[in-house]
Amino acid sequence: MEILGIDIGGSGIKGAPVDVSTGILTAARFRIPTPDPSTPEAVGKTVAEIVKHFAWQGVVGCTFPAIVQHGVTHSAANVDQGWMHFQAEPFLRQKTGRPLRLVNDADAAGLAEVAFGAAKGVPGTVMVLTFGTGIGSALLLDGKLVPNLELGHLEIRGKDAEKRASDLARAQKDLSWGKWTKRVNEFLARLELYFSPDLFVIGGGVSKNYAKFASYLRAERARIVPAQLLNEAGIVGAAMAAVDLIPTESSLKKKAPVKAKPQSKPKKK
Ligand code: BGC
Repeated sequence: MEILGIDIGGSGIKGAPVDVSTGILTAARFRIPTPDPSTPEAVGKTVAEIVKHFAWQGVVGCTFPAIVQHGVTHSAANVDQGWMHFQAEPFLRQKTGRPLRLVNDADAAGLAEVAFGAAKGVPGTVMVLTFGTGIGSALLLDGKLVPNLELGHLEIRGKDAEKRASDLARAQKDLSWGKWTKRVNEFLARLELYFSPDLFVIGGGVSKNYAKFASYLRAERARIVPAQLLNEAGIVGAAMAAVDLIPTESSLKKKAPVKAKPQSKPKKK
């Protein structure tokens, strides 16, 4: 079964059809730069272009870099303020004309890593962290997601954690891998104090450079591993989040047109 996964990020909006039983992309990714300003109207148009590019007739799963509670976006840290308390899921359904599920980007990465990647089959408490424009966080307990954690906004040294330790902060402040990882370790220590995870999965844009900073990473008790799906995690996780929108055989049967009752013979007079 295939679902079109779309990942809305700070710099690009990427999509590809995903086989949800294997997590494999069944066609090449299509990417369009994220519009600036990233208003709902402009982003909606771009998402619709991706759907059109694949001439997609089926279900769509889509990530968004903000709180997404029951289809409503409730924050806008790195996107246009027009997304605050916005009925984003119905809006994108209307723009694309497709059944669509909207999910937080880090939660999507968590779903993808637990289904096919570094957190597959891992019991206990797992935290998937994405380091990119911001810091995303997903909490999984025995493989089940607790959505919308937003731990990138924990306050560390008087600042939002993501302002100090995202991959963007590293690049903007031109931090060495060692210096940046020190900041990440401070963040991990705080998370360990609050959640005692068994495993940290390090994902997001920075994960392609994992070898450059792995030796500096420290946690007191948790294991630390790199994400396995790298920059495909958002697309794959978006698709996984939308699986329940696929019409089941029984729902199709229910919708099947009811056969017209045979006309009763006219009674003989
Ligand atoms: C947002 C999160 C998002 C993370 C990664 C943060 O600024 O608040 O919702 O998951 O960035 O994109």
